Parts: sequence; structure tokens; C-alpha cells
Amino acid sequence: MSNVAVVGAQWGDEGKGKVVDLLTEFADVVVRYQGGANAGHTLVVGGQTTILHHIPSGVLHPGKTSVLGNGMVVNPPELVREIDALRGRGFLQGQGELFLSASAHVILPYHTALDVAREDRAAAAGGGGKIGTTRRGIGPAYEDKVARRGLRVGDLSDAERFQELVARALPEKNALLAHLGAPAIAFADFRDAYLAAARALGPFVTDTSRLLAREAARGRNLLFEGAQGTLLDVDHGTYPFVTSSTTVAAGAASGAGVGPRVLDKVIGISKAYTTRVGEGPFPTEEPGELGETLRREGKEYGATTGRARRCGWLDVAGLRTARRLNGLTGLALTKLDVLTGHKRIKVCNGYRRGGERLDDLPDDLGPRGGWTPEYEELEGWSESVREVREMDDLPRAARRYIARVEDLTELPVVLVSVGPARGETIVRKNPFRD
Ligand code: IMP
Repeated sequence: MSNVAVVGAQWGDEGKGKVVDLLTEFADVVVRYQGGANAGHTLVVGGQTTILHHIPSGVLHPGKTSVLGNGMVVNPPELVREIDALRGRGFLQGQGELFLSASAHVILPYHTALDVAREDRAAAAGGGGKIGTTRRGIGPAYEDKVARRGLRVGDLSDAERFQELVARALPEKNALLAHLGAPAIAFADFRDAYLAAARALGPFVTDTSRLLAREAARGRNLLFEGAQGTLLDVDHGTYPFVTSSTTVAAGAASGAGVGPRVLDKVIGISKAYTTRVGEGPFPTEEPGELGETLRREGKEYGATTGRARRCGWLDVAGLRTARRLNGLTGLALTKLDVLTGHKRIKVCNGYRRGGERLDDLPDDLGPRGGWTPEYEELEGWSESVREVREMDDLPRAARRYIARVEDLTELPVVLVSVGPARGETIVRKNPFRD
């Protein structure tokens, strides 16, 4: 038995969905433990593209169990639509393939309205306070969780309790919305849709912490699927330009309800370059032509919001920070194919400020911190790598690039992705076996 966590080592969108989908073959249960529909995990299987927002990326493997843990914030009507769409395509047909924690928090329309109103207001005021959120109500829902006034999935099963909790919350939410110049929300606007969603979700709702303990006791392999990325972690990311949950591997324990010693391996996913969506510091960003080329070649547009992603060179200093914060045991390098065609490739190998040098990320990455990235240049390659399935068949410069990333991060690259499809992958080590 072995348990593996897959976490984003950058600012999200690293390709975790594809890696989780691949590793699910060796797992029995796949668990999401934080975030909600801010995530957009894109999977290309059999020529069909599936974008998942709540459900773990293992769902495309019939017979495996997908779990939405207590650390998540779920939007019930959207989750029902996601389940229906998957069922319509032949997935989730069996019993016991999906479970939802009764303790996961619920995103209500006022959370989404507050997220949107705050972002719009910040943008109108000149953009200073704007986070660039996915406008899915994630932050306001986690605020309510921590403030002990949130609604949990289990609360929706009792219509009276649901009404009572919403009635308690609404006056304050509407006062806030009025302050932000947004229209008020009435319970009647969403009551029926939420109760219908609660009925549809009812059969999946359970105590998922107990379920995972049972599965672990039976010797089943658990795969924990992180959403967003290390540098968006609410404690350790580029605060305040972060999401509102614990995205680092430690979040898997509390967000799934398992003990912290459960993880045997932690795989950090990183693109062969870097992207970021939303506001916040990104020192290796290339706003010019190079960034445009990476965006075009990598199709760097958000799976959830369609926003253009900011693009730049790989930040190895950032990967060292990710190694430290997650206790990474290996790296998966994705989108290597996108780097094809560059004569020279740069990687950031540290930060300098006057006489000071850091080989991981400075606490203050923004312009006020005064740190500048230091680059190392490597040779590029021009041959397509999409057909390559063995390391030895990669162009020499691509092999050197990977070897250099391993040297600099002191982590083995266990998997390399050379295209979006499931098969377009070089697997060097299987974290469940090797
Ligand atoms: P929120 O999670 O919607 O509150 O957004 C907060 C920050 O996290 C913004 O910069 C978003 O762009 C970013 N973010 C949230 N989810 C994702 C994701 O799945 N991929 C990449 N960035 C994300």
C-alpha cells in the first residue's frame, strides 16, 4: 500500500489533472481536499477533452473511487451539472464511485456575488486591491467557514435548517452587497435550485474521513489531488494574491481528514516554463513576444475563466521553495513540447538584491522587495518531442534541460509530459511502485 499526493509546484495550471488521471491506474481512491470550482482540470482522453472543476481527475477510470473532501468548498448546482455531464458520457455509472464529505462547505450565491462585486469595485478604483480571482465565490465561502457561519453540505439535507442558516446570514450579506453597489439576494432566488441539488447529491454524501480510514485499513492506495498551486497557498503563497485554502501537501491531511503521516510520496507538478493567471508578482514573466509565443504554443488560457495566462521562464528558485513547503519527493515536468523551437532557454536559479543572494523565493517577491531574478541559459532544441515516449529518444538538449532541472532542484523528474493526451507522456518512475 502506498499513498501519493500530487500538488502544483507553481501558481496553478501545471497539468495536475493529467498526472492524476495517469496515476489513477495505480490508485484505488482519488481525493480532492481543498478549493472548489476555481479549479479547472483539463483531461484529454481518447480524443475527448473533459474539464473538471470539483470532481477529482481520476473519475475517468471506471471502478475507482473519487472523493470530495471536507476541505473543499462546493457549489451544489454546479457539482450536479458536472456529475450529469460525466454520466451523460458514460462515466460514474457504478455504485460507490463518488463520495462527498458532509463537512465540505457550500458556496452560496451571495459568496459569488460578493467575490464579483469586490473584484469589480477594486478594478473600478484603479485595480490596486484586485486579486484577479476566478469569481467563483471561493474567498467569501472560506471566510464564512473560518468565521463559523458557513453552511456545510450536511446542512442542506434538512430544508428547515438550511432556511434557518441562510436567514441568519442573508441580512449581513445584503448589507455588504449594498455597500458594494450590488443588488440584494433573496432566499427565494436560489432555495429550490439548492434543495434540488441537495437531493441529487444526497446519495453521495458521507463522512469521507471515516471512508478513507476504512480504505487505508484495507490496504488501498490513496491518491490526493491538489488544486491551484504552492505559490497560491493562503499561508505560503504570494499573499494577498493567493487563493483562500491550503494548497501545499500538508492540506491533504486536514482537508481529507487523514493523519499527516499518511503520505508516502509527494509529487510536485511544474510546467517546463511558468504561468500565472490573475494579479500578483511573477518575476520571470515575459510580457513581450516570448510570453506571447509561450501562450500561443501552450494554449495558455484558463480552463475555468478563459483568461489569458501570463507566461515566462521556469523559476527553479520557486521549485526549491515548493520542495521545502511540500516535502516533495519528485517532480513531474509538463508541457515540455511547448519549449520546442527556442534557440536558448532560460531558467531562474536564484534572486539577488544588492549583495544578497537567495536560492529560493524571497518572501517579498513584488517590486517593493527589490529582488531581481538571476538566470542561467541553456541550449534549446528544434525537433518535435510529441511522439517521444522514452527519455533516451528526446533531443540531447531537452535531456540536458531535464537533467539540469534535476540538479538544481535536487529532485528526480519522475514523469515528463510532451503533449495533452494521456499517452503523450514519458514515465520514468511510478510513485506508487518505485
Ligand atoms: P480564487 O481562488 O478564485 O479566489 O482566486 C485567487 C487567485 O488564485 C487568483 O489569482 C486566481 O487566478 C488563482 N487561481 C484560483 N484557482 C486557480 C486555478 O485552478 N489555476 C490557476 N490559478 C487559480
